[in-house]
This record gives sequence, structure tokens and C-alpha cells, in this order.
Amino acid sequence: MENPPETMFESAFAEDTYKGLTSYPKYLLSKYIYDEKGDKLFQQIMDMPEYYLTQCEHNILEINAEAIIDEFDSKQGFDLIELGAGDGKKTKLLLKELVKRKSDFAYLPIDISQNVLTELEKSLTQEIPEVNVKVQQGTYFKTLEKLAEYNTRKKVILVLGSNIGNLLHERAVEFLANIAAAMSEDDMLFMGFDQKKHPQKILDAYNDAAGITEAFNKNLLIRINRELEGNFDPDKFLHWETYDPETGTAKSFLVSKAAQKVIIDKLDLEVKFDAWESIHTEISQKYDDAVVNWLAEEAGLKVERAFSDHEGCFKNYIFRKK
Ligand code: AVJ
Repeated sequence: MENPPETMFESAFAEDTYKGLTSYPKYLLSKYIYDEKGDKLFQQIMDMPEYYLTQCEHNILEINAEAIIDEFDSKQGFDLIELGAGDGKKTKLLLKELVKRKSDFAYLPIDISQNVLTELEKSLTQEIPEVNVKVQQGTYFKTLEKLAEYNTRKKVILVLGSNIGNLLHERAVEFLANIAAAMSEDDMLFMGFDQKKHPQKILDAYNDAAGITEAFNKNLLIRINRELEGNFDPDKFLHWETYDPETGTAKSFLVSKAAQKVIIDKLDLEVKFDAWESIHTEISQKYDDAVVNWLAEEAGLKVERAFSDHEGCFKNYIFRKK
């Protein structure tokens, strides 16, 4: 089928969904998982015992807070800009260290969800009221443009949680290059990268027994039903996870358990599924030092220092402009 003209779509979600479900093989974009319910499910994922990423990175920041802040701090003061701040639980470890030192800094968390930002602001006022915080709602790409305007003093850009892992390498380089473009010589990027490890540990993190990750992926179908008037039956799909130790890519799929047709009214679309046909929903890339160095190089950055947990499960890297 030919792509209808762009004007036909009421939103980017509608257009991307149309494209993904009329492609072969079928796919949906993981960024659309995060509506109000998706945010809550991700919060639950971060609390799961299998989802080691959060705990590993928390440990790294807790153990190395002083050394990390030594790197950030500047006599002229600095702006700490966080992309995808979420609940700020891990960032608070760094904020506490900064407040303890009476460092001159402002905290500028950016998130796509206003909901999340309002909560974060509230919790900061209660827990660390000394922090000068200015929240900003927006997507990564839009706010990156604004970033370049923060050039009156040093800035440190934080991206925690291995959020970059949702991007294929090519797009990850683009993302890093956009950040690099907004950086001056003194500025730093501090970013978390989940590391290659025992494949079973990775599979378990994305395929929990309680089915939270399954519900998280199926939230895409539920969102299509609600916002685009679809009639997906989520029970007719199963969640499947793969991990390729060669590429370091974990991939999530929803697999149709039977031949079926789904109608999506607002897209004027009937989607046919063969039995066991897949919809690819998400990638979660795992890294090693060689790949991180290569991504940095391609983006015009260089790795200055890395912080790791004892097992090398997760690493936080400091980058500067090359
Ligand atoms: C938010 C992209 C870091 O890929 O680990 C968690 C999202 N998906 N469980 C990840 C996610 C399924 C998460 N990131």
C-alpha cells in the first residue's frame, strides 16, 4: 500500500504507528510506550529485582559521588542539565554531595513528562530544599537546541539509566553529536551505559516472571486502542525477548499467537497478522569500552574517565569535546 499524504495523520503517533504496522517486518516505536500508564510501569520495572540496571548505577553513584563531583565542580559555578530526569532518585545522590560542599550550581532537569517533573520538583523541595532547580518539559531533540544557549558558564549534561540504549548505533551517534554540538570546551557529558554481560542476566531483566515488562510492551497496543480507536486484543500476543551477544542488542517483540485481523479506525487501516508473526517494539543496546569509545569518536567526543561497579555490570562515562 502506498503511504497516504502526511496531512492525513492527526499526530506523530498516528503516522509512526501507520508506518510501523504497514512495514514488513512490523514494528512500533518504544518511545510511545511512555504515556501515564507506561511511566508507571517503567517505575515498577526499575523496582524489580531482575532489572539490575537501576541498582548497579545507584551503587556507582553512591560509591563514587565525591570523585564524580570533583570532576563536575567549578569555581565559576556550573549548570547541571539532566536529560530524561525521571524520579531523580539517582541524581539526588550527586545533588546531596553538591549541597554538602556548598557548590555553586543550578539543577535543570528535562523530561518529556510534565507529570514526572512536577513530582521531582516537589520531592526536591522536601528532601534537598537547598537545590536551585528549574524544570523544563520537552523531548531530547528539542531541548538539545536550547542547551547551546546555556553558555554563560560551565555545563554538565547528565544522561543516566542507559537511556541511549533505545537507539541503534547510527542514531546514538547522532544523539551524541547533537549534545557535542551544544558543548563548549569546558563542558562535560556524564552518561550511563549498560554493559555486555551474561546473556541470561540480560534476558531475565527484560522478561520478568511477574509479566511487568510484558505489560509495558503491550501498553503500545492499549494506547493504539485508546488514542487511535484500535481493537487489539493484547491477550492474543505474547511478549518475546532475544539477546544477541555478538551485537549486544536485546530486542523485544510482541508475537501474534494466531492469524488475526486488527482494525484501527482512526488510521483507516486493517492490519493482518499471520500466526506467529512479530511486531518489534524495542531495542536495549548493551555496550563495552570499545563500542563506547567508537561512538564517542564518531560524535566528536572523547572518553575522559569511567566509573564502574565491581562486576562491570554498568558504567558511567565522562565525555569531553574532542
Ligand atoms: C529506559 C531505555 C533504559 O531499555 O532498559 C526497561 C527501557 N524496557 N525494560 C531499557 C526498558 C524494558 C529501558 N530504558
